[in-house]
Amino acid sequence: MNCIENYPLTDITTMHLPVKCKYFIEYESVFELKEIINSELYVQNKSLQIGGGSNLVFAGDYDGIILHSKIKFLNILKETPDYVIIEAGAGIVWDDFVKFCISKNFYGTENLSSIPGEVGASAVQNIGSYGVEVCEIILQVHCLDKKTGNETTFTNAQCQYGYRDSIFKNEYKDKYIVTSVEYKLSKQPKFTLTYGPLKHYKESLSSDDEMSMSAIRNIIIKTRDSKLPNPMEIGSVGSFFKNPIVSRDLFDILYRQYPSMPFYQVTDALVKIPAGWLIENAGLKGFKIGGAYVYEKQCLVIANNGHASSNDVMALCKYIIDTVKEKYGILLSPEANIIL
Ligand code: EPU
Repeated sequence: MNCIENYPLTDITTMHLPVKCKYFIEYESVFELKEIINSELYVQNKSLQIGGGSNLVFAGDYDGIILHSKIKFLNILKETPDYVIIEAGAGIVWDDFVKFCISKNFYGTENLSSIPGEVGASAVQNIGSYGVEVCEIILQVHCLDKKTGNETTFTNAQCQYGYRDSIFKNEYKDKYIVTSVEYKLSKQPKFTLTYGPLKHYKESLSSDDEMSMSAIRNIIIKTRDSKLPNPMEIGSVGSFFKNPIVSRDLFDILYRQYPSMPFYQVTDALVKIPAGWLIENAGLKGFKIGGAYVYEKQCLVIANNGHASSNDVMALCKYIIDTVKEKYGILLSPEANIIL
């Protein structure tokens, strides 16, 4: 077991905060992970599993073990003329998996291009973008019980997926470690082109036959680059907040006041409002506390100017929540996983 003490988390988390953990351990197989779970060090310390560190904000140093998967196998379990089932190790970089699927003409991941992070976390967080959520292609999730070391498999339904949500963030929080994920992908062309820039792409073609996953990937990468900071250059966790879902009654009151407010109808009684718009319209674009600031091109992102401390980020998070609550009566909740 390769365990490093006092390991800096700055470069293995995309927020790039100057924090450390007491122990850092990586493993390459389920067998190695079981050995770790059975070790004295593991039993005596608290632990946290990380993926690409792209959704984690440490409120301070972590006084325990940070575990990171390097399980990287990719197996095709079943292939028919219509679909393929692939099992991917939790440690595979998510976008490498997307590139693999596109290269093989397997449809379903292309709208999720360029999302930072790894396969394991994709199944916990139910990552989503441009009209697609990963739960639409997940078949099963293989896990290890953190206490017993036993292997368990959860079906898609058992994962209780919702908007950026799953059972692993609620009832089973900190109970399981995802070791691999099975995806079911279509081999027949199947596109989701409902989102703005992709709609334009569809309209620009003379026939559906011309559509390609590579073109969709390129449009998405371009759109993301124009709005979201590149985590290699500017520290952030992408969306810091979830888009709040409010009652129709509250929405109606706000809409009368702010007719330019964008929204998505969720059900007859519920409406989702972009947190980025609420924050920008509250006058917080570029607002800064210490080295943490509201990213100008997408206000739902908290960025690090290279000198932010955990305290700066936490103070800015609180300030945004308080300001939005006061102005609209809406309580924003972080999408980022804040580790206290
Ligand atoms: N808007 C503003 N000001 C802002 C940001 C957004 O007015 O600062 C407005 C936009 O003009 C638009 C609306 O809000 O009318 C929605 O903005 P956008 O299309 O950028 O999407 P979003 O709802 O802000 C969500 C996801 C992103 C994902 C995009 C595209 C959440 C919390 N965020 O953002 O996910 O890339 O849709 O599908 O659901 C991530 O999770 O890290 C992430 C970036």
